[in-house]
Amino acid sequence: MDDEVVVRTRADGATELRVNGVFVMDDVETSSERVLAEHALDAGAREVLVGGLGLGFTARALLEADGGRRVERLVVAELHDAVLRAVREGAGAGPEVLDDPRSTVVVGDVLDVVATQPAASLDAVLLDVDNGPDFLVHDANAAVYDSTGVRACARALRPGGTLAVWSMADSETLRERLGEVLDDVRALAVPVDLQGRAEHYWVLTGHAR
Ligand SMILES: C[S@@+](CC[C@H](N)C(=O)[O-])C[C@H]1O[C@@H](n2cnc3c(N)ncnc32)[C@H](O)[C@@H]1O
Repeated sequence: MDDEVVVRTRADGATELRVNGVFVMDDVETSSERVLAEHALDAGAREVLVGGLGLGFTARALLEADGGRRVERLVVAELHDAVLRAVREGAGAGPEVLDDPRSTVVVGDVLDVVATQPAASLDAVLLDVDNGPDFLVHDANAAVYDSTGVRACARALRPGGTLAVWSMADSETLRERLGEVLDDVRALAVPVDLQGRAEHYWVLTGHAR
Protein backbone atom coordinates (compact mmCIF):
# COMPACT_ATOMS: atom_id res chain seq x y z
CA MET A 1 0.00 0.00 0.00
CA ASP A 2 1.28 3.51 -0.83
CA ASP A 3 1.82 5.75 2.16
CA GLU A 4 -0.60 8.63 2.51
CA VAL A 5 1.47 11.80 2.96
CA VAL A 6 -0.29 14.98 4.03
CA VAL A 7 1.38 18.37 4.48
CA ARG A 8 -1.26 20.81 5.69
CA THR A 9 -1.72 24.16 7.37
CA ARG A 10 -3.42 23.69 10.76
CA ALA A 11 -5.99 26.00 12.30
CA ASP A 12 -3.19 27.56 14.41
CA GLY A 13 -1.30 28.46 11.23
CA ALA A 14 1.43 25.85 11.68
CA THR A 15 2.50 23.52 8.86
CA GLU A 16 2.21 19.85 9.78
CA LEU A 17 3.48 16.65 8.12
CA ARG A 18 1.51 13.45 8.65
CA VAL A 19 2.12 10.01 7.13
CA ASN A 20 -0.70 7.45 7.16
CA GLY A 21 -2.54 9.64 9.65
CA VAL A 22 0.39 9.69 12.10
CA PHE A 23 1.87 13.05 13.13
CA VAL A 24 5.51 13.25 11.96
CA MET A 25 6.45 16.88 12.63
CA ASP A 26 5.42 20.51 12.41
CA ASP A 27 7.23 23.79 11.96
CA VAL A 28 6.56 25.11 15.49
CA GLU A 29 9.36 23.51 17.54
CA THR A 30 12.28 22.72 15.24
CA SER A 31 15.18 23.22 17.64
CA SER A 32 16.07 19.51 17.81
CA GLU A 33 16.13 19.27 14.00
CA ARG A 34 18.61 22.16 14.00
CA VAL A 35 20.66 20.69 16.86
CA LEU A 36 21.17 17.60 14.69
CA ALA A 37 22.86 19.83 12.11
CA GLU A 38 24.75 21.92 14.67
CA HIS A 39 26.22 18.80 16.25
CA ALA A 40 27.83 17.83 12.94
CA LEU A 41 28.89 21.42 12.24
CA ASP A 42 30.57 21.65 15.67
CA ALA A 43 32.64 18.62 14.65
CA GLY A 44 33.73 20.44 11.47
CA ALA A 45 31.49 18.74 8.89
CA ARG A 46 31.64 19.93 5.29
CA GLU A 47 30.21 16.96 3.34
CA VAL A 48 27.00 15.67 4.86
CA LEU A 49 24.20 13.19 4.14
CA VAL A 50 20.80 13.80 5.74
CA GLY A 51 17.86 11.41 5.79
CA GLY A 52 15.02 12.40 5.52
CA LEU A 53 14.15 15.85 4.29
CA GLY A 54 10.95 16.35 6.34
CA LEU A 55 10.21 20.07 6.35
CA GLY A 56 13.87 20.80 5.64
CA PHE A 57 15.08 22.44 8.85
CA THR A 58 18.13 20.21 9.36
CA ALA A 59 19.14 20.72 5.73
CA ARG A 60 18.64 24.49 5.94
CA ALA A 61 20.73 24.77 9.12
CA LEU A 62 23.58 22.99 7.32
CA LEU A 63 23.35 25.10 4.18
CA GLU A 64 23.17 28.39 6.12
CA ALA A 65 26.11 27.61 8.45
CA ASP A 66 28.90 30.20 8.47
CA GLY A 67 26.93 32.42 6.11
CA GLY A 68 26.58 29.56 3.62
CA ARG A 69 30.31 28.97 3.36
CA ARG A 70 30.73 25.91 5.58
CA VAL A 71 28.97 22.95 3.95
CA GLU A 72 30.33 22.06 0.53
CA ARG A 73 28.14 19.06 -0.32
CA LEU A 74 24.75 17.99 1.02
CA VAL A 75 23.00 14.78 0.02
CA VAL A 76 19.41 14.46 1.22
CA ALA A 77 17.48 11.18 1.05
CA GLU A 78 13.69 11.45 1.32
CA LEU A 79 11.35 8.49 1.01
CA HIS A 80 8.33 10.43 -0.19
CA ASP A 81 8.18 12.50 -3.34
CA ALA A 82 5.10 14.24 -1.86
CA VAL A 83 7.30 15.68 0.93
CA LEU A 84 9.71 17.05 -1.66
CA ARG A 85 6.85 18.59 -3.62
CA ALA A 86 5.46 20.28 -0.50
CA VAL A 87 8.85 21.81 0.38
CA ARG A 88 9.29 22.88 -3.23
CA GLU A 89 5.92 24.64 -3.01
CA GLY A 90 7.06 26.57 0.09
CA ALA A 91 6.33 24.35 3.10
CA GLY A 92 8.84 24.41 5.98
CA ALA A 93 12.31 25.58 5.00
CA GLY A 94 11.11 26.09 1.42
CA PRO A 95 12.56 25.52 -2.05
CA GLU A 96 15.95 27.19 -1.45
CA VAL A 97 17.06 24.01 0.33
CA LEU A 98 16.34 21.98 -2.79
CA ASP A 99 17.65 24.52 -5.28
CA ASP A 100 20.97 25.17 -3.54
CA PRO A 101 23.73 24.04 -5.94
CA ARG A 102 25.40 22.16 -3.07
CA SER A 103 22.28 20.00 -2.52
CA THR A 104 21.46 16.69 -4.15
CA VAL A 105 18.05 15.43 -3.12
CA VAL A 106 17.27 11.79 -3.84
CA VAL A 107 13.83 10.24 -3.48
CA GLY A 108 14.43 6.88 -1.87
CA ASP A 109 15.28 4.98 1.26
CA VAL A 110 18.15 6.49 3.22
CA LEU A 111 20.00 3.17 3.46
CA ASP A 112 19.90 2.79 -0.33
CA VAL A 113 21.29 6.31 -0.70
CA VAL A 114 23.98 5.70 1.95
CA ALA A 115 24.99 2.57 0.02
CA THR A 116 25.69 4.68 -3.08
CA GLN A 117 28.25 6.81 -1.20
CA PRO A 118 31.89 5.74 -1.50
CA ALA A 119 33.43 4.43 1.71
CA ALA A 120 34.93 7.12 3.97
CA SER A 121 33.57 9.95 1.78
CA LEU A 122 31.38 11.91 4.24
CA ASP A 123 32.01 13.98 7.35
CA ALA A 124 28.55 13.32 8.77
CA VAL A 125 25.45 11.17 8.34
CA LEU A 126 22.41 12.66 10.09
CA LEU A 127 19.39 10.40 10.48
CA ASP A 128 15.94 11.80 11.20
CA VAL A 129 13.67 9.40 9.35
CA ASP A 130 11.39 8.28 12.14
CA ASN A 131 10.54 8.91 15.76
CA GLY A 132 13.46 6.78 16.93
CA PRO A 133 14.07 3.05 17.21
CA ASP A 134 11.26 2.44 19.69
CA PHE A 135 8.49 4.56 18.11
CA LEU A 136 8.45 3.67 14.42
CA VAL A 137 6.03 5.28 11.98
CA HIS A 138 7.33 2.89 9.27
CA ASP A 139 8.08 -0.66 10.45
CA ALA A 140 10.65 -0.97 7.65
CA ASN A 141 12.73 1.74 9.34
CA ALA A 142 13.78 -0.79 11.99
CA ALA A 143 16.55 -1.57 9.48
CA VAL A 144 17.93 1.97 9.85
CA TYR A 145 18.53 1.49 13.58
CA ASP A 146 19.78 -2.11 13.57
CA SER A 147 23.44 -3.12 13.44
CA THR A 148 23.43 -3.43 9.64
CA GLY A 149 22.02 0.06 9.19
CA VAL A 150 24.42 1.61 11.68
CA ARG A 151 27.38 -0.17 10.07
CA ALA A 152 26.30 0.97 6.58
CA CYS A 153 26.27 4.59 7.77
CA ALA A 154 29.60 4.24 9.58
CA ARG A 155 31.18 2.83 6.40
CA ALA A 156 30.40 6.06 4.55
CA LEU A 157 32.12 8.22 7.19
CA ARG A 158 35.68 9.45 7.20
CA PRO A 159 37.65 8.66 10.36
CA GLY A 160 36.32 11.00 13.05
CA GLY A 161 33.12 11.62 11.07
CA THR A 162 29.81 12.02 12.89
CA LEU A 163 26.81 9.71 12.86
CA ALA A 164 23.91 11.38 14.66
CA VAL A 165 20.41 9.99 15.08
CA TRP A 166 17.34 12.00 16.13
CA SER A 167 15.12 10.15 18.58
CA MET A 168 12.05 10.87 20.70
CA ALA A 169 13.71 9.03 23.58
CA ASP A 170 17.11 7.81 24.62
CA SER A 171 17.75 4.19 23.63
CA GLU A 172 20.32 2.03 25.37
CA THR A 173 20.00 -0.55 22.58
CA LEU A 174 20.82 1.99 19.90
CA ARG A 175 23.73 3.36 21.93
CA GLU A 176 25.12 -0.17 22.16
CA ARG A 177 24.78 -0.62 18.40
CA LEU A 178 26.52 2.69 17.75
CA GLY A 179 29.26 1.60 20.14
CA GLU A 180 29.96 -1.49 18.02
CA VAL A 181 31.45 0.68 15.26
CA LEU A 182 31.83 4.20 16.65
CA ASP A 183 33.77 5.93 19.41
CA ASP A 184 32.60 8.60 21.85
CA VAL A 185 28.96 7.43 21.80
CA ARG A 186 26.65 9.81 23.65
CA ALA A 187 22.98 10.64 24.04
CA LEU A 188 22.38 14.38 24.00
CA ALA A 189 19.16 15.63 25.58
CA VAL A 190 17.69 18.53 23.62
CA PRO A 191 15.20 20.65 25.59
CA VAL A 192 12.02 21.34 23.61
CA ASP A 193 8.84 23.27 24.31
CA LEU A 194 5.83 21.22 23.22
CA GLN A 195 2.82 23.52 23.43
CA GLY A 196 4.02 24.92 26.77
CA ARG A 197 5.24 21.55 28.10
CA ALA A 198 8.97 21.31 28.74
CA GLU A 199 10.22 18.00 27.28
CA HIS A 200 13.36 16.53 25.78
CA TYR A 201 14.11 15.01 22.43
CA TRP A 202 17.40 13.20 21.89
CA VAL A 203 20.33 13.05 19.53
CA LEU A 204 22.31 9.81 19.78
CA THR A 205 25.73 10.21 18.32
CA GLY A 206 29.20 8.79 17.84
CA HIS A 207 32.34 9.28 15.76
CA ALA A 208 33.84 6.95 13.16
CA ARG A 209 37.05 5.10 14.00
C1 LIG B 1 10.78 13.90 11.10
S1 LIG B 1 10.94 14.12 9.40
C2 LIG B 1 12.56 14.81 9.22
C3 LIG B 1 12.64 16.19 9.74
C4 LIG B 1 13.85 16.96 9.27
N1 LIG B 1 15.01 16.67 10.09
C5 LIG B 1 13.58 18.45 9.28
O1 LIG B 1 14.47 19.20 9.70
O2 LIG B 1 12.52 18.89 8.88
C6 LIG B 1 11.20 12.48 8.81
C7 LIG B 1 11.27 12.41 7.29
O3 LIG B 1 11.92 11.18 6.92
C8 LIG B 1 11.24 10.62 5.81
N2 LIG B 1 11.53 9.17 5.82
C9 LIG B 1 10.94 8.20 6.54
N3 LIG B 1 11.57 7.03 6.36
C10 LIG B 1 12.58 7.26 5.50
C11 LIG B 1 13.61 6.45 4.93
N4 LIG B 1 13.71 5.16 5.23
N5 LIG B 1 14.49 7.02 4.07
C12 LIG B 1 14.39 8.35 3.76
N6 LIG B 1 13.45 9.17 4.28
C13 LIG B 1 12.57 8.64 5.14
C14 LIG B 1 9.79 10.99 6.06
O4 LIG B 1 9.03 10.93 4.87
C15 LIG B 1 9.91 12.40 6.62
O5 LIG B 1 9.90 13.34 5.58
